[in-house]
Amino acid sequence: MKRLTIPSIRHRKGQEPIVMLTAYTTRMAQLLDAHCDMLLVGDSLGQVIYGLPSTLPVTLDMMIAHGAAVVRGSYHAVVIVDLPFGSYEASPEAAFASASRVLAETGAAGVKLEGGATMAPVVEFLTRRGIPVMGHVGLTPQAVNALGGYAARGRSNAEHAQIIDDARAIAEAGAFGIVAEGVVETLADEITAAVSVPVIGIGASAQCDGQVLVIDDMLGMFERNARFVKRYDDLAGRISAAVATYAAEVRSRAFPGPEQVYAARD
Ligand code: KIV
Ligand code: NA
Repeated sequence: MKRLTIPSIRHRKGQEPIVMLTAYTTRMAQLLDAHCDMLLVGDSLGQVIYGLPSTLPVTLDMMIAHGAAVVRGSYHAVVIVDLPFGSYEASPEAAFASASRVLAETGAAGVKLEGGATMAPVVEFLTRRGIPVMGHVGLTPQAVNALGGYAARGRSNAEHAQIIDDARAIAEAGAFGIVAEGVVETLADEITAAVSVPVIGIGASAQCDGQVLVIDDMLGMFERNARFVKRYDDLAGRISAAVATYAAEVRSRAFPGPEQVYAARD
């Protein structure tokens, strides 16, 4: 299976839905790769992998380490790496320095960055220099301090209009796709209709051009999730049960059994 390309993803608009999941490690990338069109090394790894309170403390070096791990574990899906908070907002030049490191040091195909019209010059600067960029509008977790939380967006008319303008600006600046996160369903549908590039929804609408979820969320690794997370398994429960069995077998000396010990040579 040859690796998919950014242009092939871009041309999926209006065709078959795009399947995207986050991945942070080589082994998980290996397991997801054949099923997914895109793997996102999201800065959600701050909470998911490192136990941080938000995505804000995530560094470019962390993103590069995990980005390289995911590229090593995949050969089919397009790998996109989030630019972390502080690594791209100040200027197009700062963004280029960060994004070029990501592509050179991980082998990923493109980067994702959060923000609307304000970030359009950054998106244009990168795309004109050969760096594919994915946008991210609506609920943008790096702006949690300004937004005041993680509530869904687009309920007021003003916010609704602003988010559509944001998506348009990012698409016109050259983004090859846009993640729409935590927006009311009708707004997600309008964004999808308003831009000519694929819109990937999370907490958005089934009518988006594709969907993305955080892998640990959809596998049921956490007790509590946002409304938009569908749990496809209960890995947390299954891990607890496996570890409880192991602990009991160690304590009763049932483990290791005859199959797990080495016989003496004779
Ligand atoms: O960091 C992340 O996982 C993301 C997705 C939720 C879109 O940005
Ligand atoms: Na992210």
